[in-house]
Amino acid sequence: MEESNILTEKDGPVATITLNRPKALNALSSALMNELADALEGFDADDGIRCVVLTGNERVFAAGGDIKQMSDSTAADMVKRESPSPWRRVAKTRKPVVAAVSGFALGGGCELALACDMIVASESAQFGQPEIDLGIIPGAGGTQRLTHAIGKARAMEMVLTGRRVEAKEAFEMGMVTKVVPAESYLEEAKELARTVASKAPLAAQLAKDAVLKAYDGTLDAGLDYERRNFLVLFSTDDKEEGMAAFKEKRAPNFEGK
Ligand code: CAA
Repeated sequence: MEESNILTEKDGPVATITLNRPKALNALSSALMNELADALEGFDADDGIRCVVLTGNERVFAAGGDIKQMSDSTAADMVKRESPSPWRRVAKTRKPVVAAVSGFALGGGCELALACDMIVASESAQFGQPEIDLGIIPGAGGTQRLTHAIGKARAMEMVLTGRRVEAKEAFEMGMVTKVVPAESYLEEAKELARTVASKAPLAAQLAKDAVLKAYDGTLDAGLDYERRNFLVLFSTDDKEEGMAAFKEKRAPNFEGK
């Protein structure tokens, strides 16, 4: 039987979703993203659940979009997978979602954590947007949510250089809610989720909705804009070269074509 890309469990009013592709460092294939969106919609519809924790494993939260899947994808393939985009479905979750991040949160993995409402990071967590090294750009909110979280100057540096930042720096920049010892990140995230779950559930949902509205008007248009630029880059030679170089474990040679 094929293993599921995510695992789910319920503990009272808190549900936990665990990304479960450890061999691929939890690369976010379209199958995984669709399962994740289905699970979140299921918990949204479940009156017994009040808050969700989203996590990976100790080594990696998620190493980004699935480069092996994307390397064979044309812009047309990518557009076809967008209807509806599981990323947009994930972002529409009404109940609060806490990301429990340990290890790598790169590319789409960083963007997925940023799409959650709070991030509890292990001291070992590393965040980054390395898409530039693949000849593409962040395509799931990195240029938008990251910029809202840490400001233009620092977002620009992360997106243009691909530099990874450690948990402490991410906290100082305003990307994460708190940094905790590696051994307790998941338990701390669940504790935070239990606190949220102890509050009035409708108030919690509408509080989340209102906080997101603080930048939503510009965020929606920004996300569409980002996605278009991301998809356009799937018709360039540099994307082919960047992703081939990743698979062949060598440095890319970009020619601007
Ligand atoms: N997609 C597909 N497979 C991936 C992957 C990804 N994003 N990240 C890692 N893997 C695979 C590797 O290919 C490798 O597979 P094999 O065993 O078959 O060779 C396996 O996971 C283990 O990875 P590494 O051997 O590379 O592990 P490492 O410890 O040496 O390095 C790492 C870890 C630094 C995270 C490195 O794997 C890496 O740089 N990954 C890619 C990160 C990245 O570029 N993410 C952005 C993706 S694009 C994106 O996310 C677009 C978007 O906006 C949605």
